[in-house]
Amino acid sequence: MIIGAGTISRHHAEAFKKLSKPEEAELYVTDLNEQALQDFCTQYPKARPCKDVDEMLALPVDDKDIVIVATPPRTHHDLAVKALRSGRHVLCEKPFAMNREEAEDMVRTAEELGLLIACCSARFLDVETTGHAIQLLRNGALGNVYRVEFVHKARRSRPGVEHLPALRWFLNRAVSGGGCLMDWGPYDFTTLNEVLEPTRIDVLSAWMANPETALAEDIKVFDIEEHVGAALRYHRKDGSTVIVEYERAACTHGKEYANVQLEGTQGAAYWDWLCYSGDGNITRVYDEDGKAKEETTSYSASPSMLTLMDKPLVFFDRTIRGQDAPSVVNRKALFNFAIIDAIYACIRTGAAQTIDLDSTNN
Ligand SMILES: NC(=O)c1ccc[n+]([C@@H]2O[C@H](COP(=O)([O-])OP(=O)(O)OC[C@H]3O[C@@H](n4cnc5c(N)ncnc54)[C@H](O)[C@@H]3O)[C@@H](O)[C@H]2O)c1
Repeated sequence: MIIGAGTISRHHAEAFKKLSKPEEAELYVTDLNEQALQDFCTQYPKARPCKDVDEMLALPVDDKDIVIVATPPRTHHDLAVKALRSGRHVLCEKPFAMNREEAEDMVRTAEELGLLIACCSARFLDVETTGHAIQLLRNGALGNVYRVEFVHKARRSRPGVEHLPALRWFLNRAVSGGGCLMDWGPYDFTTLNEVLEPTRIDVLSAWMANPETALAEDIKVFDIEEHVGAALRYHRKDGSTVIVEYERAACTHGKEYANVQLEGTQGAAYWDWLCYSGDGNITRVYDEDGKAKEETTSYSASPSMLTLMDKPLVFFDRTIRGQDAPSVVNRKALFNFAIIDAIYACIRTGAAQTIDLDSTNN
């Protein structure tokens, strides 16, 4: 069942075809906008339109039903809670919620009802290059990892401006919850947390800005950040700590730059963590007789691979069927989102923030 027949719903409809038993599943869809609903059903004629959310959720419940909340962030909490109360599992688009209070309420509701709520921030999990980085970390090949760099800076890739210009809601904080931190942070921190396995994260300092450029005249509200940075201290499951230098920009007058790397006392590794097409490299750098040596491993796509857009739904369907899959579910979804909320809180107050896995577990 999909709520919101917009841009991202098409990707979920494609993922639907890759579920374990698509012939046994039915796809229902609803949207406030009649035209959007009609267009979706023309593109996917097997989909069954519902006039509104209430009509859809009143349908008979199966214990494997999933409701996908594919609407702008302002609506995620209310729609997700309503869908959970209908007795169904929920897959919520990223960013999970507008703030930590909403995220906590969504997860608490799921738990009270014995259901699962997942976040679509799983799109860049189960990537071979990242799996390789995790192995290097776990087998000690890098020694003590003391610094992590996670930096992505683009000059002009703002959703609602250069990217998907029709979707101006991305620029309005009251609807989107924020800018590039809300848009990309869910993927960034889901990946970082998978690699570093933190039990606690301190946000030591953080800042944000919205670099000015010429804009279309119809853009009336543009109150989000397009450039954000934070210094974080990760306390890892194995007792070690590591500093993470995080930066994300969808607009900057500075140099375009992207690098994701782990630096340790015995070596370093930097890698393509996005692997949009399934292809990517990881490079390990280490010392050999006083000289820096580089070793690059390449991974390529295979026809059976899921696309990044398939992953949230296919993984979640496997999870609710009791199979092993890297879904971002319940407390994990809350913890990953709490970091984003804590970075905003650090910027707002100027004070360092701490997120404890235990505090998100209570
Ligand atoms: N567009 C992308 O490339 C992309 C990628 C990844 C994630 N997302 C996320 O997906 C979510 C939706 O984004 P989108 O790009 O599909 O937006 P969109 O504007 O293209 O589509 C959203 C749809 O939701 C409908 N809608 C809004 N409120 C509703 C309600 N209360 N009940 C029913 N329908 C409602 C709107 O009418 C619209 O058709 C956002 O959280 C976004 O961050 C988008």
